[in-house]
Amino acid sequence: MASEKVILGVDDGFFNTKIVQVGKSPRIVQSRARVGRSEQLALNGRVTDISEIEVDGVHYSAGAVNGDNIAFDGYPTSPLNRVIVHHALMSAGYGGHDVEIATGLPIRLYYRPGAVTEKNESLIDKKTQNIMAPASLVKAPNKADRGMATIVRHDVLPEGLAAWFDYIIQFDSDGRMVASDERRSESVAIIDIGGRTTDFAVIESQVVDMARSGSVNVGMLDVHKHVRGEIMNKYDVSELSDAVIDKAVDTGSIKLLGKQIDVSQMVHEAKAAVVRRISNESMRLLGQAATLDNIIFIGGGSMGLREMLEDWFPHQTVADEPVFANARGMAKYMRFVAK
Ligand SMILES: Nc1ncnc2c1ncn2[C@@H]1O[C@H](COP(=O)(O)OP(=O)(O)OP(=O)(O)O)[C@@H](O)[C@H]1O
Ligand SMILES: [Mg+2]
Repeated sequence: MASEKVILGVDDGFFNTKIVQVGKSPRIVQSRARVGRSEQLALNGRVTDISEIEVDGVHYSAGAVNGDNIAFDGYPTSPLNRVIVHHALMSAGYGGHDVEIATGLPIRLYYRPGAVTEKNESLIDKKTQNIMAPASLVKAPNKADRGMATIVRHDVLPEGLAAWFDYIIQFDSDGRMVASDERRSESVAIIDIGGRTTDFAVIESQVVDMARSGSVNVGMLDVHKHVRGEIMNKYDVSELSDAVIDKAVDTGSIKLLGKQIDVSQMVHEAKAAVVRRISNESMRLLGQAATLDNIIFIGGGSMGLREMLEDWFPHQTVADEPVFANARGMAKYMRFVAK
């Protein structure tokens, strides 16, 4: 029996995959996968919530694994991307469903470099096909026993523009989606602080202004990298799992050899260095942003670095649940705009 079609925004970032279905709670799943079986990986620690998926005869594990590095530009069209999206869909409870999804590409990949705003059709096509290509389930993550989701439609959107759709498409008092004419006519900059990159998108007259949009290779992963290096040096440890570092950055504290150690100063310095680089790029691209109507911070980094982003511009805001802004926009786009 065919199940009911579900429409989803799937923001498949380098750090997290965010899934939004309009009217439901958003879900977030780490973007981690590697070649190999989970039995081998279980030796490294606790194994929970792992999928095993085969693509082109290669066996992948996704979920709570120490992942292969996915921070490479080929990631959006790679088998790792397909595996991570399927794992995220199953983990979020969409296994066994027919799903129509929109995913994202960074603006600098979605459009060709140059003065004229021109789409990179071949890359967009390649990404569209890649996620829909065959993959077979070997083992579902915990609790998901309905198999994989079937992706029956896949659209690719530029990431910052997705957040702009989130900004302009709102709900009226009856819960219907409406596009705000006022917001649509504004000039808006979206600053997306992610795991690997921070992206700037300026949207004016409903078009991305490429001259003032751009990307800098700095994000929350740099905070993690810095903190990992400092802890290893200072306390002479040779191995620290991703999960331990995540917690150290979140809480400013780490347990080593049975003792709780305060690393909050290290975390603070790492964040300050990242914020300085984002601020420099912001100055270069936007200046004082005097002609813009609104500057909107989105992405997980806007939460992680929140206290250091205050007062950059008099007319700035942080999006509601900023980590989900792109995924929300993708979901709204699929419901409201897509033909
Ligand atoms: N509520 C939160 N509070 C603090 N930090 C958060 C929060 N949500 C996410 N983060 C942090 O934000 C970072 C990742 O953000 P995000 O999910 O936007 O990145 P991404 O989209 O995967 O990366 P990229 O855009 O570079 O592809 C992680 O370091 C994560 O720990
Ligand atoms: Mg992102």
